[in-house]
This record gives sequence, C-alpha cells and structure tokens, in this order.
Amino acid sequence: MIPNRPLSILFVCLGNICRSPLAEAILRHRLTETHMNANVYIDSAGTGDWHTGRSADGRSISVARRNGITLDSNARQVIPEDFHIFDYILAMDRQNQQDLEALKVLHGGKAIIKLFLEFDIADKSVLDVPDPYYGGTEGFQHLFQMLDKTCLLIINQLVDETMP
Ligand code: 4NP
Repeated sequence: MIPNRPLSILFVCLGNICRSPLAEAILRHRLTETHMNANVYIDSAGTGDWHTGRSADGRSISVARRNGITLDSNARQVIPEDFHIFDYILAMDRQNQQDLEALKVLHGGKAIIKLFLEFDIADKSVLDVPDPYYGGTEGFQHLFQMLDKTCLLIINQLVDETMP
C-alpha cells in the first residue's frame, strides 16, 4: 500500500542503482524545498533484478551528496502492482519504456508510461538518459544536471497541475 496522495510517480531504469534512484532523490528533495513533498508519492525501481536490496551506486550517492541531497534507497525490481498503484511510470530510456509497456500488457493497470525526458519539451534531440554505469565519474555529474533540470520541469508540468 502506498499513502493516499494526489500524485504518484515511479522512476524506472535498468538496475535501479544509478539513474532512477537519483531521480527519485532529486525530485523528493526539490519537492521538500517547495513544501510540496506531502502531495506526491515517489519511488524508483529497475526492470532488472541483479541489484535487488542493494544500496545505490556509490557514484550516484556521491553526486547527490555533493549537491546537498540524500540518496538512501535500496534497489528493487518493477512488480505487477506498480502498474496498478502509480499514476505515472517514467522510464529513463526507450529500452526501459519498451520493457515497461510489455509488462503492462501482461499485468494491466492504470499507470501512464512515459519517457522521463519527454518533460524536457524544449529539447527533443535527446530521448534517453545515458546509462552511466560503465562510464567514469564525470558521467554522473552530467547525469545529475540532466535529472535535476528535468525534475524541475516535471514539477512545473505534472505536480503543479495535480495540486488540489
Ligand atoms: P541504472 O544503471 O539502470 O541507471 O541503474 C545500471 C546499473 C547496473 C547495470 C546496468 C545499468 N548492470 O548491468 O548491472
């Protein structure tokens, strides 16, 4: 069960240790800063199960900390209930989106599946949040900036619209 809130958002990537937990932590932090945290239920998950139960990648934790944000979630895999519980499921890349669409066909549910970067309406050139897992630390700074910018756009477009 999730708390009864006006809006619920699940961020999804492949492993749930780099991109989606960072997006979850950033959005929660930005909503807390603007006193809107109580209105939105936020979580993250991975399409894969390799890292289930583990803390996020140290590089995501570090870049979050450098920017004053706490990242302390543990990885989990997407479950069928997610499609029934969440209003929006935001995929980090098109492969994640395709996998989620296939799962929704199997399990049903009301969740609207979108690409995370669809909210960056001014920049249509990039659709996928690059997977930083096999890259270096600098990829995580770029990742942070991309996620933070888009989380603000999500607040403007999704959260503000849904507020009671
Ligand atoms: P994420 O990154 O999907 O952003 O969490 C990855 C983490 C782990 C793996 C791939 C991507 N992996 O292959 O274990």
